[in-house]
Amino acid sequence: MRGACHAVHVPPHSTCQPTPLRLIMTLENSSSGKPDLTRRRFLRNTAATGAALSYSKMAARAAGPSDTLNVALVGCGSQGGVLKTSALRIPGLKFVAVCDLWEVKARSMARTIGSDVKIYTLLEDMLKAHPEIDCLLIATPDWLHAPFTRIGLQAGKQVYCEKMMSNNLDAARDMVRAQRETGKLLQIGHQRRSNPRYQFMRNTLLRQKNLLGQITTLYGQWNRSVKPPFEVKGGIPDDVLKAHGYKDMFEYTNWRWFHKYGGGPISDLGAHQIDIFNWITGTTPRAMVASGGLDYYKDRMLPSGKGKFSYEHLDTAMVVYEYDMPVYDNGVPVMEGDKPKTNLVRALYQVLTTNGSQNYYEKVMGVEGTIAISEQPVYNQVYREKDTTSGKIGQWEALARAGYIRKPPATIYNKFWERPVAWHLPEKWMATEGTQDVRVSIPADPYELPQMPKEMDEKPPHQFHLENFFNTVRASGKQTDLNCPVSEAYKCAVAVLNINKAVETGERIKFAPSDFEVA
Ligand SMILES: NC(=O)c1ccc[n+]([C@@H]2O[C@H](COP(=O)([O-])OP(=O)(O)OC[C@H]3O[C@@H](n4cnc5c(N)ncnc54)[C@H](O)[C@@H]3O)[C@@H](O)[C@H]2O)c1
Repeated sequence: MRGACHAVHVPPHSTCQPTPLRLIMTLENSSSGKPDLTRRRFLRNTAATGAALSYSKMAARAAGPSDTLNVALVGCGSQGGVLKTSALRIPGLKFVAVCDLWEVKARSMARTIGSDVKIYTLLEDMLKAHPEIDCLLIATPDWLHAPFTRIGLQAGKQVYCEKMMSNNLDAARDMVRAQRETGKLLQIGHQRRSNPRYQFMRNTLLRQKNLLGQITTLYGQWNRSVKPPFEVKGGIPDDVLKAHGYKDMFEYTNWRWFHKYGGGPISDLGAHQIDIFNWITGTTPRAMVASGGLDYYKDRMLPSGKGKFSYEHLDTAMVVYEYDMPVYDNGVPVMEGDKPKTNLVRALYQVLTTNGSQNYYEKVMGVEGTIAISEQPVYNQVYREKDTTSGKIGQWEALARAGYIRKPPATIYNKFWERPVAWHLPEKWMATEGTQDVRVSIPADPYELPQMPKEMDEKPPHQFHLENFFNTVRASGKQTDLNCPVSEAYKCAVAVLNINKAVETGERIKFAPSDFEVA
């Protein structure tokens, strides 16, 4: 049989997979004692904590014609396009206008939406001309998030602003304050928090089922291959660029790499996953150390051959955070006296822009197993530590039977590196596993995360987070109904933007909980 399905990457609906198990529900919630596989149960299950509550609330409310929300987008680059595509899948939204300093971008974005969408190059003009706008989506370079958010909130709009909320902490604090002052909603685009797979992992597998035993380590990476910079001919006239604070078209299009406009790869990419460290642990780090540098992108030849370029931000960074992570049992924090019981968890994160090995994912590692999770479903793996769980195999198998985790088909579980079954001869390559060397850990037993209901599996990852935002707006919900309220995103900004300082000084940075709050 082996040989039929030999692939490294297994698509979620591969014919190599067993009949897909629908996403799980807690047995204890099911009156029959069997898992209830309905979408409603799934929603209830993912809504096990306050953070996810708004998802079920919003899902319960269908949009009628009178619920139409008028939406405008500022920043019509690549992420503006992603938000637009996801938002267009959500019923009851009407794009009124789009805005981009580079008019050609606004024009082509509008074309993909509809002929009645108006085009602007200045945010203020757009807001003045369209008092009917209810919600503003911001997908500009990071340095404009704070001023544009304030303008939007003060104009009475509900705002969804992309991550990283800002490239400096003073501006990030201003966003928190602007939300407080205006009382309008402000969601930041850390979209993993709204992903039902991530919610299921945290709320059910980790906090309720305690699947991994004591969690000791988190890991995350975003590895990217070398990419040439953008080199645009023409574009925006120099005087317009300068009037808007940009040096030239090179910095305008490669803004992420320059201190003035962005936070570099550690903020651009790391922000997503470091935010997930905070979200999984349910707390903020108490300390961090980091190493990194601008190791590659200096004095490099431009693709056109017309001279050289250098970036400013770190192109490589590795950081270790220390968390005192609260311990959960059956979904409830365990107390020691009047304080939550905690365990030390170290979280290692790396961003590489010179090598794309194994792409991006996060891993939660406990003494009894590992969960690897990513927005890319192919990385969603679960491993049982054979060394420490011999007495618990029945428990894991019971969870697999009930659909909390699933067994991958034996022939193709070579997706990741924990148990590298060869996909060509010799077939018995791993037959002596665990006996090669007594010091080697026994290869972990592979499982997978269960599959989401089909209609959810097919949604683009940003849609869940946008739904959470728009449905909170519709339900006249509160800031706390958002899955990533600005105050939570600020905690991520503090953890991420301190990496530069840690690299520069080479020192261990200690945090107090108050460092993550805005007075
Ligand atoms: N959540 C995610 O998964 C995700 C992914 C990628 C990017 N992002 C975020 O989205 C934002 C945009 O990133 P991108 O990749 O789309 O960048 P981009 O460079 O492709 O797009 C930025 C757009 O903003 C426009 N712009 C610049 N200055 C402006 C101004 N003064 N007024 C109006 N428009 C202006 C540019 O012309 C450009 O079209 C960033 O904050 C980034 O961190 C989020």
